[in-house]
This record gives sequence, C-alpha cells and structure tokens, in this order.
Amino acid sequence: MPAPATLLYFDDEQPAALGLAQAAGLLPAPVQRHRFPDGEIRLRLPDALPERVVLLRTLDHPNEKLVELLLAARTARLLGARHLTLVAPYLAYMRQDIAFNPGEAVSQRIVGRFLAELFDAVITVDPHLHRVATLQEAVPVGQAVVLSGAPLLADLIAQRRPGALLVGPDSESAQWVSQAAARHGFDHAVCTKQRQGDHAVEIELPALPVAGRAVVLMDDVASTGHTVAQAARRLRAAGAVSVDVAVTHALLSDDAFGQLRAAGVDAFWSTDCVAHPSNVVKMAAPLAQALATFLPSGMVKA
Ligand code: R5P
Repeated sequence: MPAPATLLYFDDEQPAALGLAQAAGLLPAPVQRHRFPDGEIRLRLPDALPERVVLLRTLDHPNEKLVELLLAARTARLLGARHLTLVAPYLAYMRQDIAFNPGEAVSQRIVGRFLAELFDAVITVDPHLHRVATLQEAVPVGQAVVLSGAPLLADLIAQRRPGALLVGPDSESAQWVSQAAARHGFDHAVCTKQRQGDHAVEIELPALPVAGRAVVLMDDVASTGHTVAQAARRLRAAGAVSVDVAVTHALLSDDAFGQLRAAGVDAFWSTDCVAHPSNVVKMAAPLAQALATFLPSGMVKA
C-alpha cells in the first residue's frame, strides 16, 4: 500500500491548507521557515516524503515565494517525492504575456517555464490568461488544471442578491460574468475599459439600463481597486440602487475598502484564493476535486 500523499504548506496559509488537506485526504505537513538577518531564508521539510507530494502556495506578493518554491521543490525531490503538484490558487506574473515595449521581460513565459521545471502538475484558479488560450501554453507542465471561482461566487450572489444585474468592468471579465449568469439566469453585460496607468482607468458602461437595479460587479482580480471603484462610480451615477463586488482574487490592501466605499461599493466578496478579510467563498472543495483526478486513490486518506 503506497504512503498517502503529503500536502506541504507554509504557516501563513495554515487555515486554507488544513481545509484542503481535509477535503482532499492528504497528510498536512508544514514547511518550517527561518529568515536570516540579511533576508535570506532557510526551509526545512519533513525528513522523508512519500512518492506523491502536493505543495500549496498562493502567489500573491510573489517574489520571495518564487524562491521558496525553488528551494522547497528541489528539496522535496531529494527527500523522496517523485510526483510534485503545485496548488497555486493565485498564479502570479500571468499578466505580462507580451513585450509591450522593446526590451521588456515577458514574465508569463519566464515564470511559467520556471514552474514547469520544478513541478509535474499545476492547479490554479482564474489565471489571468489574455492572449494565450490554455494554461499549458503559459506553464508548459505535464498536467495544468484551471478552475474558476465564478460558480461559487455566483451561488453566493444568488443567495445574497437574487435578481442582481451582473456587470463585468472590462471585456476580459465576460468569461466570469457569463459563466455566473448561465448558472443562475442573471441579466449580465460588460463595460469597456481603457487603462491609462497603474492607478488610472476609464470605464464606459454597457448600453443597458441600470437605473433601479442592484448591480454586482464581477472580475478575476482587484489589485489597486481602481477598476471596480471607477465602474462603481459610473453605475451609481447611472442610478444603480446598490453596487456590490465579487472577485476571485482580492489582492487589495486592507485599507482599500475606504476607497471602495467612497466610490459607492456596498459589499465586497472574494474567494479564499488569496487570504483577505473579504473572503467568503472557500475553494477547498473544487481544489480537492481537481487533485482527486490525478492522485491515485490508494494515495489519499479514506
Ligand atoms: C485586468 O484586466 C483584470 O481583470 C483586473 O480588472 C485588473 O487587474 C484590476 O486591477 P486594479 O484593481 O488595479 O484596477
């Protein structure tokens, strides 16, 4: 009988890790981390690992975490792991998918290949793939699985704002808005967005009446929050009675809420792909289901 697969995690992701381990039947094991005074890190993994190992690391604030992945994945192989899966509910560096100016690093390709050299499989949620069609093009790994937060966010919206009008702030958000609308029959539309800089966007509302409607804005990511804030301002000015926001990845700093309130946002909901006070949707069940498709049944706890 093979040993059950281990789920390696870092202490700052313990709640999500224990939820995932429980849902997927994995043995949770923390990676111990020491930071030296000069900023270098030392990792310590369990001293023997089974053949199948899953590493949970969500990649918001990714720069140091990418070094952690390098150290942890290479060490896990030396300690016995033969098949390594990365569960990165948020996958960083996916937005820079071309060189917009001569000389720019195409980060998606570089980080994608880096991950593919370390792991046999990658599971993520709503990666920001714009000009590439599949995750495997960005992360050329044996098994690449993409999940979406939209179905569970849609269920939450159906409970809390039945009859809402779903609005996406830009054309790319159409995929999440239409998925959610198909699940619960919401009316839906998307805005047009022009980005002028990291902290400046212009939004044009879709040609459909919003006056008197409860609107929920849906997107994959809120980062500075300017996209949803600007869309909320426009919707309020056009007569929406409420504007709530539902996103998969809340990369926002905690103090962004004040800014969003000032723009007319009521509730702000997110999945737990990135830990944030707005988390209301847990992704453990869909992540566990995805893992079950390629973890042999003898390698999970009953
Ligand atoms: C971009 O296309 C994404 O879907 C989001 O709309 C964007 O990343 C949000 O960024 P911010 O919150 O900084 O406006």
